Amino acid sequence: MEIIVAKSAGFCAGVRKAVETAYKCSESNNCCTFGPLIHNRHVTDELGAKGVACIDSLKEANGRNVIIRSHGVPPEVYSELDSLGISYVDCTCRDVKKIHELIRESFRLGKKIIIAGQKDHPEVIACNGITGYTAVVLSSREQAEQAVFCDDGEYILLAQTTFSVEEYAKIVDVLSSRLKRLDVKNTICGATSARQKEASEIAKNVDAMIILGDKTSSNSIKLYETCKNFNENTFFVESINDLQLKFIASSGKIGLTAGASTPPVIIKEALQLMSELEKKNDKSFEELLSENIVSLHTGDVVKGTVIQINNGEVSVNLGYKSDGIIQKGEFSEDPDADPAAVLKSGDIISVFVIHVNDVDGTVLLSKKRIDYLNNIEEIEKAVESKAVLNGKIIETVKGGAIAVINGLRAFVPSSQISNRFVEDIDSFKGKELGFNILEYDKGKRKIIAGRRELATKLIEEQKAKAFETIEVGQSIDGTVSRLTDFGAFVDLGGVDGLVHVSEISWNRIRRPSDVLKVGDKIRAYVIDVNKEKGKISLSIKNLLGDPWATAEEKYAPGNIVEGTVVRMTDFGAFVALEEGIDGLLHISQISDKRIQKPSDVLSIGDTVTVKVTELNLETKRISLSKKQYEKQLAYEAGEASMLGIDTEHVAEQGEECERACCCEEAPADIYHDHGEPEVADKFFEKDNN
Ligand code: F3S
Repeated sequence: MEIIVAKSAGFCAGVRKAVETAYKCSESNNCCTFGPLIHNRHVTDELGAKGVACIDSLKEANGRNVIIRSHGVPPEVYSELDSLGISYVDCTCRDVKKIHELIRESFRLGKKIIIAGQKDHPEVIACNGITGYTAVVLSSREQAEQAVFCDDGEYILLAQTTFSVEEYAKIVDVLSSRLKRLDVKNTICGATSARQKEASEIAKNVDAMIILGDKTSSNSIKLYETCKNFNENTFFVESINDLQLKFIASSGKIGLTAGASTPPVIIKEALQLMSELEKKNDKSFEELLSENIVSLHTGDVVKGTVIQINNGEVSVNLGYKSDGIIQKGEFSEDPDADPAAVLKSGDIISVFVIHVNDVDGTVLLSKKRIDYLNNIEEIEKAVESKAVLNGKIIETVKGGAIAVINGLRAFVPSSQISNRFVEDIDSFKGKELGFNILEYDKGKRKIIAGRRELATKLIEEQKAKAFETIEVGQSIDGTVSRLTDFGAFVDLGGVDGLVHVSEISWNRIRRPSDVLKVGDKIRAYVIDVNKEKGKISLSIKNLLGDPWATAEEKYAPGNIVEGTVVRMTDFGAFVALEEGIDGLLHISQISDKRIQKPSDVLSIGDTVTVKVTELNLETKRISLSKKQYEKQLAYEAGEASMLGIDTEHVAEQGEECERACCCEEAPADIYHDHGEPEVADKFFEKDNN
């Protein structure tokens, strides 16, 4: 096996300068990068471990110096840096700065700007920002053919520094024939075109071609696409460990190149392993790997054996001088995930090396980053296919929630959590649900998921099912899902029913929220089902029984009853006798003395004992009198004392009663209390007669 390595492989001048600057700044322990410094996780992770964090918003700088990456930033970022008083190190590549100047000048002269590049690439965003985001951005010949231009404009065409040389030539061809006044500038970086040219030459002459680069790196992707045009056996991997070398071990000639953001250590590691493979080509890659894992680097993906799981931390034997540790936060994106539930000693797992400290031998590993690598493809596909992926909402954040889907963190905007407005997003925390992947931003590694469409579909299905089974006359359980002034909506398991405010209680209530709250579990009676309109009407009070059914006996005129003052008007007080039954205590029946208004002697909440003076079952009205009750009491007390009767005395069952006026002996089945109303009534009646 012969290995041909491209001379142009690896860091370009601009990237090298930015990386060296960042490592130098890391010594001050007071700097951060605005966006990932380069498209390479190995480097960004290592910088992260050295304290150089990556921030997405300048507001996160918190007094640290900000490093601007080689892609550059739009003008408004410089303004924000100045207005926030943030000091910064500008690592914008010299060649990119030249393009900024060209755009600025052309724009000032009124020329229209066309950029060949990826619209969401940071370099293109920075360039477009100079034009106030008015530039036309084209990423392919097809887009150049379809773009709309005004005839009389003067245009200048330039390219993203890492754009494909071939594709740019095609775009130039198309636009030259479409635009009369077009100034074409070739701004593709010399390093990029040289790299692409050299790679194509190598690809043409080898049996297999390997491109080492981060999957989010634009120039690495272009490199891969270019080589693939010349050699079917082109492989694009982030590290040599991602490649099944067994497959190409038998190849005669292997070409190798790397993108501008691929660090030398990854190229060196690839060469080392390939040359060993060359020497021992009778062995498999796995065998070689197991023989050779004596050194580890940050960013490596390796296999190891689980030794033990202790307090949520997993120890892994990697064949290295010391074992690696997967700390709690690196096992899964789900903070509740328990390693012991899915792993046991002896299991062989793939891990990502986060950090290797050669001094104290600490090796920090991550399983969740492997989950990312393994599952990101499925996530990417799900954007197109709209496949439903299962996930769990683990936390709420500003504007939505975070879900772990296939082991990856995804942002779920609040408008996407359900098909209707969700007041309390926290109530979704911990729920396992199905999600659609709405967006995946490769560059920022951001996944946006949602379930509004899914929830709508699910609810339609549940609704159809519910309407098949719910019938008038049924008692049904549900949960209060929403309250309005006119009623309470109750979730019946996929379909909502409405309990109108008048159907909640036999008592008069002003608003449903006076007696119900969201989340209450209730049982209701189905009073109507309208399949056409999709409406179900419910009644809670119906199941409680009509209190008026027994009112005739309980509130017969002459009965003494107890109740609570619930409302007062100028003409009297309403007394609640039981749920659903109020009686009116007219002002003239409150006291013997003359009063101006009921509140002179009564307050809401007072318990009063009154006499029923009238019961009208048809109009459901009960008239009460406190005055008559008190008069009756006084009368009874006076009569009793005249007869020398102890009104406190209570005759035991069968005992002779000392109040011969009403009975001689206590009835056999009850205690006979002389304070009871029927006794007093007798006196009262006697008196009235
Ligand atoms: Fe600069 Fe060219 Fe690299 S523009 S950042 S030297 S690819």
